[in-house]
Amino acid sequence: MTPHIEAKQGEIAESILLPGDPLRAKFIADTFLTNVRQINGVRNMLGYTGEYEGTEVSVMGTGMGIPSMSIYVTELVKFYGVKNLIRVGSCGAVSESVKVRDLIVAIGAGTDSGVNRARFSGMDFSATADYELLNKAVNIASELGLEPKVGNIFSADLFYHPDEGMLDVLDSMGTLAIEMEAAGLYGIAAEYHQLGVKALAICTVSDHIRSGESLAPSERESSFGEMMKVALRTIVDLK
Ligand code: HPA
Repeated sequence: MTPHIEAKQGEIAESILLPGDPLRAKFIADTFLTNVRQINGVRNMLGYTGEYEGTEVSVMGTGMGIPSMSIYVTELVKFYGVKNLIRVGSCGAVSESVKVRDLIVAIGAGTDSGVNRARFSGMDFSATADYELLNKAVNIASELGLEPKVGNIFSADLFYHPDEGMLDVLDSMGTLAIEMEAAGLYGIAAEYHQLGVKALAICTVSDHIRSGESLAPSERESSFGEMMKVALRTIVDLK
C-alpha cells in the first residue's frame, strides 16, 4: 500500500490507462475489460485490473492537473512497477487545424507548470512521449481510419487562465490543444526511465477554445470509445 493506493503488490498490471475522471476508469473497466477487480478506492480514485484480448491491463483515475496526476503516477511506477502508462483524456483545441472529435496523439507537451524545471535543475526539459508507444498508437489510429493529429500539446496549470493572449502564443508555436496532465506524465516517465517507464498521452478534442464549439454528450461517448480502442490495442501490441 502507498498513501494513496491500497492495491497489494502484483495487483496492478505493467500497463495502465489513465483517465482524469475516476468514474471514467470504472466505465472503461466495465465496458472494455474482462475479469475485472477493483484495486483502488482510496479518496474514490477508482482503479481496476482486468484483461483486454488476453493481456492484463489496469485503469485508474488520476484526478485533474499535474499535481494530482503526479501523486498517483509516481506511486504506480515506484511502488507497483508499472511500466507503460497511457493517459486517455480530453483536451481543448487551440489550432484551427484541429476539430472537435479529433484524436490527438501528443509527441510532446509544453507547460506553465514548474515540475519539469524542478526535475531538471531549472532548465527547460523537453517533455516527450515514448516513441514505441507513440508509433504504435499512431499506426493503430490510422488503421482505424481516425486520421490522428500528431504534435505538441500544452499542459496548463490553470483551467481558468487570466491571460487570454496565451492562446495566441500557443497557436503561434503550432500547439494543437490544451489539457492539464501530459507534460507532468512525460516528466515522471523521464525521471524513472531507468526502470523502463514509458508514457504516452492521447486525447479526444472535447471543445474548441477558439470557436466555442463543443461535443454533444453522445459524440463524446463515441469518440471516447475510439480512443479507448487505440489505447488498448497499443497495449496489446506491446507484447
Ligand atoms: N483547458 C484545459 N484542459 C482542458 C480543456 C481546456 O480548455 N478542455 C479539455 N481539457
